[in-house]
Amino acid sequence: MGKLDGKMALVTGGARGIGRAIAFAFAHEGAAVAVLDMRKDDAEAAAREISGLNVNTIAVAADVGDEAQVRSAVDKVGEAFGRVDILVNNAGIDTTSQVVEMSTEMWDEMIRVNLRSIFLCTRAVLPGMLQRKWGRIINMSSQLAHKGAADMAHYAAAKAGVLGFTRSLAYEVAREGITVNAICPGPIDTELFRNIPEAWRKRKLAELPIGRAGTVDEIAPTAVMLASDEGSYYIGASLNPNGGDVMI
Ligand SMILES: NC(=O)c1ccc[n+]([C@@H]2O[C@H](COP(=O)([O-])OP(=O)(O)OC[C@H]3O[C@@H](n4cnc5c(N)ncnc54)[C@H](O)[C@@H]3O)[C@@H](O)[C@H]2O)c1
Repeated sequence: MGKLDGKMALVTGGARGIGRAIAFAFAHEGAAVAVLDMRKDDAEAAAREISGLNVNTIAVAADVGDEAQVRSAVDKVGEAFGRVDILVNNAGIDTTSQVVEMSTEMWDEMIRVNLRSIFLCTRAVLPGMLQRKWGRIINMSSQLAHKGAADMAHYAAAKAGVLGFTRSLAYEVAREGITVNAICPGPIDTELFRNIPEAWRKRKLAELPIGRAGTVDEIAPTAVMLASDEGSYYIGASLNPNGGDVMI
């Protein structure tokens, strides 16, 4: 018996990194998994591998910041699975710039991909969850939502926005059988982290109590817990697998 047997999950940004690890962890627990990502080939490769775990799976190519693409992607998942029980809003980007030099385009793209997307994907799956009176929504924030970071004001602002959205929606739907929570990882060894300038990464790892970046497999179990029956009393929470970066 898996913790997610019979559940239908949609993981955005599931083609690589943290999202891919969550997609695999969900499949290991018996969930059908839709891998949504703008990287079509990587999403298809992940879905092919997941199908080896004997669960239903589908890859869907979409840009999570684009309203029409999100609607059509969620429709495709609905056609394949019949419903979405668990949504993981994980897709995200990172760029760096001091505020004084930041272009409006860089700011807008960060808010579009890391914050607007969460609203778009959630709104697309919510009606079905409300109808069935069951759902799990897990939003990927960051420890930087709590503490901020030089060169990442846009990223920290978007991720703090994710927490505000998470808590507010939790109020709206907790009595409808839907839990909404956030995960705030510390630095995790993925392409996103590796692409941050080296000086920034060195500074971050030097100040981190645990002294090393985390692995994607140190984040996925938190998502499994929140998605499963074990997570039923977490409402609007932010869980912090972060190596001690923020001790709350
Ligand atoms: N790695 C870290 O240190 C860290 C720390 C805290 C939070 N996070 C958050 O975790 C999430 C996953 O990050 P990761 O480290 O696995 O990154 P990653 O770059 O390895 O993976 C992100 C995935 O999201 C996809 N994606 C990006 N923009 C998209 C878009 N517009 N539409 C659809 N898919 C898109 C990418 O194609 C990629 O597959 C992000 O929200 C990130 O902000 C990461």
